[in-house]
Amino acid sequence: MFSSEDAVSHPGVSAVESLLDERPRRRATVNVEHVLTVLSRAGESMGTPGGGHVEHVAAYALLLAQGLDMSFQARTLLRRAALLHDIGKLGIDESILLKKGPLGPAEWEQVMLHPSIGERICRPLRVEKSILDTIRHHHERYDGTGYPDGLKGQEIPLFARIVALADAYDAMTSSRPYRKALSPADALRVVTKEAGKQFDPVLASTFCELMDRR
Ligand SMILES: [Fe+2]
Repeated sequence: MFSSEDAVSHPGVSAVESLLDERPRRRATVNVEHVLTVLSRAGESMGTPGGGHVEHVAAYALLLAQGLDMSFQARTLLRRAALLHDIGKLGIDESILLKKGPLGPAEWEQVMLHPSIGERICRPLRVEKSILDTIRHHHERYDGTGYPDGLKGQEIPLFARIVALADAYDAMTSSRPYRKALSPADALRVVTKEAGKQFDPVLASTFCELMDRR
């Protein structure tokens, strides 16, 4: 059985952990914001052909935050959480993340570990709890059928519900080697159809309104 302990022994994670181990020694010169940016780009390089995904997710998340009238401080945290949400992919075998065909059950089991691995990578940086929660819960579904904890509805932290929607929308509107991108209109139709199932219904309708206005 593949465990999260096995997953974090991946060379990419070891490199990150050795960087973190050096943190106290280099505290004066290492800027945590910079480390977070490097981590988010490193995570993105794993399994997101084409690049730009985490920046897109952050932009859609901030659009929602603006629509919800979030404070500047909340938006700053949300942006950071969106940039880091997939950092746990550093702990997943690249051959699985870049596989062109459908994944088998054992491969899915590995991919589904990335939220908890990401939380573990970022915990030593003492980032805010809302960011750790977003990393851990961005694959929960509003109807409770997501992972890793099967949280339901408002049990899922707000930032995680926002990033889940932004992440799914960007994935749907981006081409992959094995499928074509949906048009924005078609992707918004999926968002509406999945309101209350995959997505928070209030966030889903707010997102569709904001995107329609663009
Ligand atoms: Fe993810």
